[in-house]
Amino acid sequence: MLLVRRDPVYLDYAATTPIAEKVLAAMLPYLSERFGNASSLHTFGRRAAAALDEARTTLACALGARSGEIVFTASGTEANNLALRGVAFAARRQGKGNHLITSAVEHQAVAATVAQLRDWFGFEVTVLPVDRFGRVDPDDVRRALRQDTVLVSVMLANNEVGTLQPVREIGALCRERGVLFHTDAVQAPAYLPLDVNALNVDLLSIAAHKFYGPKGVGVLYIREGTPYMPPITGGGHERGRRPGTVNVAGAVGAAVALREAQREQELHVARLARLRDRLIAGVLARVPEAQLTGHPTQRLANHASFVFRGIDGESLLMALDVEGFAVSTGSACSSGSPEPSPVLLAMGFSPEWALGSLRVTLGYPTTEADIDAFLDVLPTCISRVRLALAEA
Ligand SMILES: Cc1ncc(COP(=O)(O)O)c(C=O)c1O
Repeated sequence: MLLVRRDPVYLDYAATTPIAEKVLAAMLPYLSERFGNASSLHTFGRRAAAALDEARTTLACALGARSGEIVFTASGTEANNLALRGVAFAARRQGKGNHLITSAVEHQAVAATVAQLRDWFGFEVTVLPVDRFGRVDPDDVRRALRQDTVLVSVMLANNEVGTLQPVREIGALCRERGVLFHTDAVQAPAYLPLDVNALNVDLLSIAAHKFYGPKGVGVLYIREGTPYMPPITGGGHERGRRPGTVNVAGAVGAAVALREAQREQELHVARLARLRDRLIAGVLARVPEAQLTGHPTQRLANHASFVFRGIDGESLLMALDVEGFAVSTGSACSSGSPEPSPVLLAMGFSPEWALGSLRVTLGYPTTEADIDAFLDVLPTCISRVRLALAEA
């Protein structure tokens, strides 16, 4: 142990965030006395339905959408699945085309869904390359668009390396060609303005737990008129687009969380970006054989990510955990797998470098003292892991 710490410091806000007090307070009545099913016709049901309507309107407002365009889901993963399959299946039914375009750095929730559409449903897929910062070139999108392209899906902000994609430009290209455009905006709501018209998107996915809302609540925006065939079937909830009794407390929480996250964005973004830059400069100055991953400026305000030669990310994560710092190697969903990240490989890192990845993501409670304390322990943790690996 380098330091005797009282409380562990959480630096993994890209994995999930705590629920904000205001959000929890808004949710609680719908977990207790206002427990009704929003589809029931009696008073209990009508109260729940009214809360759901209000939540839908609040979310629509925050996204520049209409309330009928908002669909509640059970996660960001589910929102992405519904977007991709819903559009692909509708195109198949209408005999409209068979080609999907995505990027090499998408979250598994998009990448695995597209792979399944290719391998099991016979869609043709173009996976766009990225540059060394993880950015898609809109010219590559232009070249990849075909007569039979039904959907392009490119994320707004990358979860592993924080890079922002030129979504607005890509959306404009798709619109020119009459092709539907989806963006996975799950990492963005606390840090970027999210207006579906400014972004030129037809479908957009978010998840409340990434912006101080509850886990298990996603939101899918589907532009009015978008051909969509429900990939899951059941009752008429969410106008048939996502059957299943709606999580009213979760929807209320997601709405308050998004409203507050957007409202407070200016307050937090400048401060977080300053702390992020202090962290990045500190790591690169103190640790030999270290590289920043992702774009140096076009990146999420709270996101710093690195690779270090001669370590494995999971050993470093555990060493930092012992010192009282909770961080990640990259994607929370792929921890536990010793393979180098496909995102880092697509950005041109060798497997040797890519195995040594670290993601440090800041949140509203993060202070300068947290960053400085982290910078104090990191070099020793890395030396220790390097030594252990060299001796193994
Ligand atoms: C970019 C991105 N998309 C999708 C997801 C999946 O969201 P959820 O955890 O709500 O299923 C995540 C979660 O880490 C993410 O970062």
